[in-house]
Amino acid sequence: MSFREDGYAAVDWASRYLERIDQLPVLAQVKPGELSAKLPLLPPEHGEPFANVLADLDDLIVPALTNWQHPRFFAYFAVTAAEPGILAELLAATMNQVAILWRASPASTELELRVADWVRQLLGLPDGWHGHIEDTASTSTLAALIAARHVTGRNVVVCSEHAHSSVEKGARMLGMELRKIRVDDELAMRADVPLDDVAAVVATVGTTSFASVDPVRALAERARAAGAWLHVDAAYAGSAWICEEERWSQDGVELADSLVVNPHKWLMLPMDCSLLWTSRPEEFREAFSLVPEYLRTPEDAFALSEYGPALGRRFRSLKLWAVLRCFGAEGLRAIQREHIRLARLFTGWVEEAPAWELVAPQRFSLVVFRRRGTDAENEAIVERANAGGEIFLSHTKLDGRYVLRLAIGNARTTEADVRRAWEVLNR
Ligand SMILES: Cc1ncc(COP(=O)(O)O)c(C=O)c1O
Repeated sequence: MSFREDGYAAVDWASRYLERIDQLPVLAQVKPGELSAKLPLLPPEHGEPFANVLADLDDLIVPALTNWQHPRFFAYFAVTAAEPGILAELLAATMNQVAILWRASPASTELELRVADWVRQLLGLPDGWHGHIEDTASTSTLAALIAARHVTGRNVVVCSEHAHSSVEKGARMLGMELRKIRVDDELAMRADVPLDDVAAVVATVGTTSFASVDPVRALAERARAAGAWLHVDAAYAGSAWICEEERWSQDGVELADSLVVNPHKWLMLPMDCSLLWTSRPEEFREAFSLVPEYLRTPEDAFALSEYGPALGRRFRSLKLWAVLRCFGAEGLRAIQREHIRLARLFTGWVEEAPAWELVAPQRFSLVVFRRRGTDAENEAIVERANAGGEIFLSHTKLDGRYVLRLAIGNARTTEADVRRAWEVLNR
């Protein structure tokens, strides 16, 4: 087996996949169990060439892919794994750094601190915040809740009724009580809630369903007065702060105790890369630091494992470094601005069409809308549109009503793709 030849073949496969991505169906056109039925039940006893694995990608795996790299992927939060990030993943696996502490990977540790700080600067966040990378926002928020409980000695989490389920899951895993707060007409969490016994308030900038924005400043001020920790979940929308004109949604974030932004959502990074910052690094570290004898080292150096749940840490900073350098802030801004422009264009079509209605204020690159009619009709539209494979979008519910979401986040998406989505939905 030649690593070099197999490697060229793998990169060749990756290029071909991306070149023909828009000819593939967006949503996997298979039934549950269809792939399982084709996979051998028994594990391989004898080794075989890597070329066989590549061949099976085409035969077995691609038909069962939902193609997240597709320009007409509009479901959930659409994402992009940009090419420099893909290549950096290959290189990171090649070097296979297990960054449990500084000496185990000075490169991974120091690059991670530096690129987290680059992004902090690009997003206009305060100086002095400590940032590191977790796998997902679910883990970042879990870590923030752990820190909040450690610091406050309290056991209650407060968030909006539209906060991401990771907040509820985190609270549940920690045995903390969760209080969900009603939203106002703009779908923002109400700030006038009692916080006396609260460990953590989680404010969301860019909720999953509607991209609505909680009143971070008011919540932060109240949290501070009540001795509670304020965590901001800007997993999706925080990336947009590289564009000055989107920083209206950052108001008050400088008062946060912790903040999560996912570059794997809207900064063109391949899964997974979630940035977690805290303005209280020492207390954050206290909540997590546990250094057994076999991990003690003489040097006075940073160990990022002392800031979160994981000990072994992937070299995720490499792909963030690669994407930031190859696009530059201006390249990333240009992509986001185009996504936001396309979302506004689509919003205009919805507003002008008597048969359709916008159901939530349009924010960032998300449009939430529905056809005037029953829930069953709207559900049928989504299911038929997705089944055709031309587009893929998802739904949510607002006040019990079924509504459609069109999320733009793929760097390949053009105006023609968004137009096509509108045509398919109308058809
Ligand atoms: C606002 C928000 N927070 C958190 C998450 C969870 O992200 P992850 O999949 O990285 O855990 C999501 C996912 O879409 C989200 O929209």
